[in-house]
Amino acid sequence: MRKQIIIGNWKMFKTNSNAIEFVKSIDSQVESNSNLIAGIAVPTIMISDLSKVAKNIKIAAQNCYFEKEGAFTGETSIPMLKELNVEYVVIGHSERRDIFKEDDRLINNKVKALIAAGLTPILCCGESLEIYESGKTMDHVKKQLSDDLKEVSSDQVKNVVIAYEPIWAIGTGKVATPEIAQDVIKGIRDYLASMYGQEFANEVLIQYGGSVKPENIKEILAQPDIDGALVGGASLVEDSYLGLLK
Ligand code: 13P
Repeated sequence: MRKQIIIGNWKMFKTNSNAIEFVKSIDSQVESNSNLIAGIAVPTIMISDLSKVAKNIKIAAQNCYFEKEGAFTGETSIPMLKELNVEYVVIGHSERRDIFKEDDRLINNKVKALIAAGLTPILCCGESLEIYESGKTMDHVKKQLSDDLKEVSSDQVKNVVIAYEPIWAIGTGKVATPEIAQDVIKGIRDYLASMYGQEFANEVLIQYGGSVKPENIKEILAQPDIDGALVGGASLVEDSYLGLLK
């Protein structure tokens, strides 16, 4: 049986003091449960303080750089995150790809460096509205996965979580129907089986992201291949974050 993994992605919202208040208030209401990984990916500057107050939820990072150290102004290294007990790092989010022009080569380097350091990349993939409407979703997502997982061996890939986030459903209120999300995620699982074998494909955790809310998460998670959610807007409000985990 695969676990479920529900991670909020706060993007560039809240300040440190708001964030501490939030985590203090919700952490004790999240029951630690061996079948559910619950967490929030927060702005890097908040990780240190939040890790001290979070007991039941994981404090994840939204990005990192792949070099261990050096003259890389503005970047955060994996050893810096590791020292703060970060286990999960979101990589290749569509906002990083579109706004900050991250390409698959950079994303691949980050994935490899995280795995080498023993952290888990939450590798995001997903198509634009234009690609979706032209019926090329699967081709696009497969290309992203094959480029982003280049030179990642079957042994190393065991540490990867995949998040499928159709860009047209992010922050738009448009959710891919559970059937659409299930179809693509099943396609991703089959593709990973062709890359790494059926045993891995049966075990890998694949999340859906894009306008997930407490009101629709049940039917999304009811799909056989969807193991969790990566949630933006609805993870910013306490009641709604807790509602996602119920
Ligand atoms: P929303 O849940 O706000 O659509 O954002 C999804 C997302 O980008 C999570 O990474």
